[in-house]
Amino acid sequence: CDAGTPTGGGRALPVLVDGLRNLEYRGYDSAGVALVEDDAVAVHKQQGVIDDLDLPNAHPATCGVGHTRWSTHGKPTDANAHPHTDCTGDVAVVHNGIVENYDALRAELEAAGHAFSSETDTEVVPHLLEAELAARRETATDGGRVDEDGESAGAETSADGDGSTAEDAAAYRTAGAAGGFGDVDLVAAVEAVVSRLEGSYAVAVTVAGREELVVARQDSPLVLGLGEGANFVASDVTAFVEHTREVAYLADGDVARVTGDAVDVRHDGAWVDRETKTVDWEAEAAEKGGYDHYMLKEIHEQPGALRQTLSGRVDEVAGDVDLDVDLSSEVLADVEEIQLVACGTSYHAGLYARRLLEEFADVRVTVEVASEYEFTGGRDPWETLVVAVTQSGETADTLSAMRKAAKAGARTLAVTNTVGSTAAREADDALYIRAGPEIGVAATKTFAAQVTALSLLTVHIGRRRGALSSERASNLLENLRGLPGAVQQLLDASERLEAVASEYVDEDAYFFVGRKLGAAVALEGALKLKEIAYVHAEGFPSGELKHGTLALVTEDTPVLTVLTEGARPKETLNNVKEVESRGAPVIGFSSYDAAANYLDVEIPIPDLGALEPLVANVGLQLFAYHVANELGRAIDKPRNLAKSVTVE
Ligand code: G6P
Repeated sequence: CDAGTPTGGGRALPVLVDGLRNLEYRGYDSAGVALVEDDAVAVHKQQGVIDDLDLPNAHPATCGVGHTRWSTHGKPTDANAHPHTDCTGDVAVVHNGIVENYDALRAELEAAGHAFSSETDTEVVPHLLEAELAARRETATDGGRVDEDGESAGAETSADGDGSTAEDAAAYRTAGAAGGFGDVDLVAAVEAVVSRLEGSYAVAVTVAGREELVVARQDSPLVLGLGEGANFVASDVTAFVEHTREVAYLADGDVARVTGDAVDVRHDGAWVDRETKTVDWEAEAAEKGGYDHYMLKEIHEQPGALRQTLSGRVDEVAGDVDLDVDLSSEVLADVEEIQLVACGTSYHAGLYARRLLEEFADVRVTVEVASEYEFTGGRDPWETLVVAVTQSGETADTLSAMRKAAKAGARTLAVTNTVGSTAAREADDALYIRAGPEIGVAATKTFAAQVTALSLLTVHIGRRRGALSSERASNLLENLRGLPGAVQQLLDASERLEAVASEYVDEDAYFFVGRKLGAAVALEGALKLKEIAYVHAEGFPSGELKHGTLALVTEDTPVLTVLTEGARPKETLNNVKEVESRGAPVIGFSSYDAAANYLDVEIPIPDLGALEPLVANVGLQLFAYHVANELGRAIDKPRNLAKSVTVE
């Protein structure tokens, strides 16, 4: 959640602090700011909330960066908080995203004598920049020079000679201030640094003695705010909406130089224009990225969240994953049973994962509602791996189940969104789902990210137990790679689901049915509708309809069904016929052509093998959201419910 602000005469510190406060609603575990001084960058950062920061009452800096951190690599500690600096203290950087090749870069930098002070992936960036700036300064001093048009010796970039306008070139001038790296071409240096990064990033860079920010983005949001005598950069408009509503979104691969009175954007070594837009949201709407509710925003964030979950972990060619967990082949060879324990939506993610683990990792799996869990049944703790699935990592029921398992001597793994949470700390291992903070009480993107992370775990376990061939693994990994795009396709059909919800609002009850992976999704679809719309909804395996619930089916009880790969569509269609013949409207999330004639509404699901039901789930989320919205419910904070339940 970086918020950067160079200003022309105004003071940066209060603007930065306000900007960070505006982003506070997203959740974070540490905060920090860096203020540019003549011969240093003053950094104030620590674990905890913004109010805990030990900040000066006033500071003359007109340029600085700030950040609130949601941990992905390294625990929430003072040292891991952003901004991160280089060895000289002349460079400070904030970063959102994940530098996938940070291990290799860090090793290279350490070998060259750089001392690191955090466990983060981010810290490689200031050190790389320090090295780059030093090399460029050296070249300049050694008879190289910095051209008037801003082209540093040895640098690839140039303000003219690349087809840009003279006006653009004039706008580009290095600050030329005194200081360690005073007259080196910072844009070119940042371009060189980011060209070495793999993964996703939105970075903002400040250098001592220079009243400018240089920012770069790849697969992480970054937006420029164009003010009067002051310009802003942030991951989200919310950070600066009280200062300006004129914004320009950076594209992937852009590098921009921002000063108090100019913003210049480069792409592939050429100066480019980015369209300026006026945001007319109120501050509250801005927090929600223009969506009416956090839940809707989070539903739409799923493609990005899933990319983060997968980022740097998938090797499709080798048919394997790199999960940074301590579950070796030797450990897994002894495992006879995996027990998944979880509550609510996380329990449904567990049900989904169970099928994947059984099918692809050939291991016995049980899934248990955490509040019902006991370590019994003659199990041998040495042969049991207990996986606690918990978005928050703080759910009391889940922690209690995990502790029972640990006490019995079983090995534990937490699958969680929250680095440093109780579950992550107490378990033998933690696998992070990296969905980013979720504000809406009803879990959406964390469900998708949990299933995705558990799919990766399935490959990890299957491969290490010798149960999964590299070909089958590659196939599943290819489907996982396709998941964000397929989810996007469904999101693009959002208006259709809004219309469907409006047609079927105000019915007596709603039934959600599916088989196998579709059954897990059916339960989750019903839970979403209950949670936020306060209507009666029930989800179950479709084969169970005829054993009782069919008595409740009428023309006023819509049936929502998953007819996809991984959900036994042929058999499910038989159950659809049972309800259809009793007059119930049927809404099908389908990749099964033969079903079309039996559906009142057909929402097509793209081909994605065992992950198709997960894509269908996004449709069910949108249905629940729009029904609840039509009914005027308090969607983000449904009555009687809490995001994280810390009592048993
Ligand atoms: C609460 C929330 C649910 C969530 C459940 C488990 O009941 O309202 O949305 O699924 O807790 O939360 P966890 O953080 O353990 O995944």
